[in-house]
Amino acid sequence: MPFDAGVVAEIQAKSDLLQYVSQYVTLKRQGREYVGLCPFHSEKTPSFYLNAEKQVWHCHGCSAGGDLIKFVEKYENVDFPAALRLLAARAGVVLQEAPGAQRRRSEREAVYEANAVARRFFADQLQRDKRSLEYLRKRGIAPETAVAFGIGYAPDGWEGLTKALERSGVDLMLAERAGLVRQKTGYYDFFRNRLMFPIYNLTGEVMAFGGRALADETPKYLNTPNTVAYTKGAHVYGLHLARRAASADDTLIVVEGYLDAIALHQAGFKNAVASLGTAFTPEQARELRRVASKLYLCFDGDAAGQAATARSIDMLVEEGLAVSIVVLPAGTDPDELILRGGAEAFRTLLAAAQRWVDFKIELACDRIASKFASKSDIAREAMSVIALVRDPIERDQYTKAMARRLDVSEAALRQARLHSLKAPPRGNVEGAPIRRAPAPTQPVSIERDLLQLIVSRPELLPEALESIAADDLEQPEFRAVYERLGYHARDLARGVNPITLFDEDPIVADLTRMALALPPLPYEDDRHRLALIAARFERRRRERRLSSVDAEINGLITSDRAVPEALRDEYNALAASLRGPAEHTREQD
Ligand code: CTP
Ligand code: MN
Repeated sequence: MPFDAGVVAEIQAKSDLLQYVSQYVTLKRQGREYVGLCPFHSEKTPSFYLNAEKQVWHCHGCSAGGDLIKFVEKYENVDFPAALRLLAARAGVVLQEAPGAQRRRSEREAVYEANAVARRFFADQLQRDKRSLEYLRKRGIAPETAVAFGIGYAPDGWEGLTKALERSGVDLMLAERAGLVRQKTGYYDFFRNRLMFPIYNLTGEVMAFGGRALADETPKYLNTPNTVAYTKGAHVYGLHLARRAASADDTLIVVEGYLDAIALHQAGFKNAVASLGTAFTPEQARELRRVASKLYLCFDGDAAGQAATARSIDMLVEEGLAVSIVVLPAGTDPDELILRGGAEAFRTLLAAAQRWVDFKIELACDRIASKFASKSDIAREAMSVIALVRDPIERDQYTKAMARRLDVSEAALRQARLHSLKAPPRGNVEGAPIRRAPAPTQPVSIERDLLQLIVSRPELLPEALESIAADDLEQPEFRAVYERLGYHARDLARGVNPITLFDEDPIVADLTRMALALPPLPYEDDRHRLALIAARFERRRRERRLSSVDAEINGLITSDRAVPEALRDEYNALAASLRGPAEHTREQD
């Protein structure tokens, strides 16, 4: 776990699953559990179950499940550290300052704080600057939208912000490292006479700013340089607002500019974000992937815009995103489109979005039409695009469609692909096995019983570890779970919910189901249950040993060699101890 277990336990102790979930889901009591409509898939009959005692939830409809942190991760559409931050803030737990450690906050936190002061200053200044307010009005940005995006104004002097930072007790050396001020003889403001757009991280802290010129000065945008809190090209704009809307249909709309993203939000497309440049970086793709798996890429229909789009696609697809392309009329950006045609104009374009494969094939085919390329060039190009499609059936359909379109045989096309694939491509393409979750094997019942018991009663872990070793578990997934539990025995003893240790969704779902399935028994009964399980493990261990001793003896006998006394004794002892029905170690229901 990347966080101090004590802090995680404290957050869990101070937060209540039922109370938290009830904010978003109407829950009805049903026996020991609460039931409601699952917020993670659409349904008419409730299949979302919550057990307040065990602090776990599970949906029988979509198989999602876990503890409170998992709920926050899914509902708020954030990763584990961000979920912890959100909960910590609510519970009043200080995350960064681990107990025992120095009360020193990381530089990044300090930069966030300096940026927060700057953001407030810029927002105040905006209200005093008629020209900026008029500019926003002209661009169709409503006052509420400006507030939602934290838009501000950096005044035209040299030390407006510098003074404000000083007044708030921000160290100017730090403010310089935050990219807010510069130093010559003294400190002076970096952003002057610009409309300010804060760039927020997922949990809403300001990482950086983009400052737009109010007239034709250059550069049009002045952006915060790289700092400890911000790396150029690694982030997208508006994700903190878009993530919740994106969780509903797992989709984000990606545009280029600050003002495009803002205009889309205002028009009701709350899942819009901006890439803040042209071509995508893998870091940005991963940021997007954390929030949604489907993207609408929305770029200018002119040649430069299309080329930039084409370049971005491969990388996004490689990161596992399902990409569709929204082609805008040449020379128009989403902001202008909405100003002129309203939300409807954009909705029409969204509905006409093309899957990335079709988009790239179209681009390639356009070049035949304009005689820039030959049929065989296009065949090769199209086939290298099709090779990136992961689904083999879809790939086949594209190949057939392409053959019709180019009026060549499928065989010729497949041949063209072989040529286009001379160098082994990266990622999951033709021939490479696609990684998937391990095939479900028949559960080994005592191993499952053991985990079920420990997950619902982690206090018994130390006792379990005394008699059952990880190697005693044969099912690899179960063994891994037990190993991980053992590794975190101390965290569990401090009250960390065991489900928190398992980030991988299928395992969490399985464990929660296990925890919910077990009727709660008094502590002593659960100890007894553990003793029975341990006895079954012990019996299995002896059975295995017996059969290996047996095999060894047989080998010696068939090769006409003497059987050592010790081996014979072991055989007899094992056989005697195993005589009689195994049933007495089984739990009585
Ligand atoms: N950009 C930048 N620096 C520049 C120009 C552009 O960082 N000198 C980035 C900004 O993030 C900008 C995006 O590229 O939002 C798109 O640029 P552009 O289309 O020129 O700007 P818009 O955001 O559309 O601004 P406006 O509508 O006011 O022209
Ligand atoms: Mn624009």
